Amino acid sequence: MWLGDPVAGAEAFKNRRLGNCLACHANADMAGELFHGNVGPELDGVADRWEEPMLRAIVVNSKHVFTDETVMPGFYSLDAGKDVAKDFVGKTILTAQQVEDVVAYLGTLKE
Ligand code: HEC
Repeated sequence: MWLGDPVAGAEAFKNRRLGNCLACHANADMAGELFHGNVGPELDGVADRWEEPMLRAIVVNSKHVFTDETVMPGFYSLDAGKDVAKDFVGKTILTAQQVEDVVAYLGTLKE
């Protein structure tokens, strides 16, 4: 079930203080934005590759879906991952609402 607001999710996705997903992921929808990275795969069509519960699981804690070695932070985990800013120790990077918003945005990325 899509619980979030995709418009708010797109904002969190590109906000460097929130998801900062663009630092590692590009997608055609965000072609006008700066700071695209390519550490992670392009997210075009990601909603065709993963069901909504899996998209949520990836954002919540990528390590549970990929491996412990993934560079992608866990955005709703107290063990966010490697190289996470000190400010986030003992906190989650995104709020539960922001996770849902980002997941709803990912749901719009269909090929
Ligand atoms: C530090 C880099 C980094 C950041 C920041 C990052 N990711 Fe990732 N992401 C990756 C990598 C790398 C992978 C591929 C899995 C792996 O090999 O670890 C990935 C995989 C994914 C996948 C699966 C893609 C597919 O095609 O199968 C999704 C969905 C995803 N990320 C969403 C996000 C979202 C949403 C954010 C922001 C909230 C984000 N990522 C932030 C590095 C990152």
